[in-house]
Amino acid sequence: MYDLSFTGRNIDIAASLLIKGEAVAIPTETVYGLAANALNIDAVTKIFRIKKRPSFDPLIIHISSFDLVDRYVVSVPEPLRRLAEAYMPGPLTLLLEKKSIIPDVVTSGSRYVAVRVPAHDLTRALLAKLDFPLAAPSANPFGYISPTTAQHVADQLGSQLCYILDGGPCEIGIESTIVGMTDNGEIHVYRKGGLTIEQIQKVIGTIIVEDYSASNPDAPGMLTHHYAPSKPFVIVENINDIPKGENVGVMAYRQFVPGIPMHHQVVLAPTGRFEDAAHNLFAGMRYLDTCQVDTIYTQLLPEVDLGIAINDRLRRAAAI
Ligand code: TXA
Ligand code: MG
Repeated sequence: MYDLSFTGRNIDIAASLLIKGEAVAIPTETVYGLAANALNIDAVTKIFRIKKRPSFDPLIIHISSFDLVDRYVVSVPEPLRRLAEAYMPGPLTLLLEKKSIIPDVVTSGSRYVAVRVPAHDLTRALLAKLDFPLAAPSANPFGYISPTTAQHVADQLGSQLCYILDGGPCEIGIESTIVGMTDNGEIHVYRKGGLTIEQIQKVIGTIIVEDYSASNPDAPGMLTHHYAPSKPFVIVENINDIPKGENVGVMAYRQFVPGIPMHHQVVLAPTGRFEDAAHNLFAGMRYLDTCQVDTIYTQLLPEVDLGIAINDRLRRAAAI
């Protein structure tokens, strides 16, 4: 555990570092982000370097209010504007045609930029102090589990950061849902996330949901193997049928599994609430990754509501 990193709740410190072109970790309601001035190419390059992120994987820009979006995008198609009105601030990211003020390094050369208004008081207060948007991917090394506490960020990236803005544990716990519109007017969900498919359908009607395994040129970051612990992570049909033993890890939905040490088990949601499961998912994966276990077994949740996005994370973590 790394505990020398400079962590706190001071948005003036965070703002002054960001203005200087440094990278700072910030809390959001989904996961922690690794933020830098989105209009400053050198600052954005630091994010890619710290995360060891391939340059083909574009970044989301974060703004304090959707009212500011016209500074950075050419236009907002009507259905996406309705989504923004319904769900921003919140766990929704929209892909919109960018203005040239957004450097190509942010979008990995795409003419679309991903835009989000986080619903976290501390980060919104920070954004309100800045006259630029913050480019921020999740604050984890590329491919590993996203951080949902300041300690998670410090554990992995602490030695490379000058400040971690600590906003407590992320309420939602999984990343935002990414939505865009194709040239022929279809609404696509490119990443399942904290805003559910059902919530989007309520506002838009028919949408197309990209599958986790799709090799999809529109969302180059949606790699099949992602969010992964370093231990083998195996999805089983029936969690009670797994091999029993001391070195077995379990991530169960509602109940502990008999015959396996309790301290090698994580129960995501004892009462079955999807919100609890999402909130506990990444912290649970990290915990089990530190246990003396050879393999972590898990089960899928019902494929509705937040279960859809949670299962997407479980399948990617289990993919070889
Ligand atoms: O909840 C979240 O969205 C968090 C917090 C920090 O805001 N951020 C996050 O960022 O999850 P990241 O970098 O881990 O995932 C961003 C993904 C990329 O991998 C890519 O798939 C998609 O967003 N993306 C970003 N810009 C895009 C673009 N211009 N076109 C297509 N996909 C894009
Ligand atoms: Mg990420």
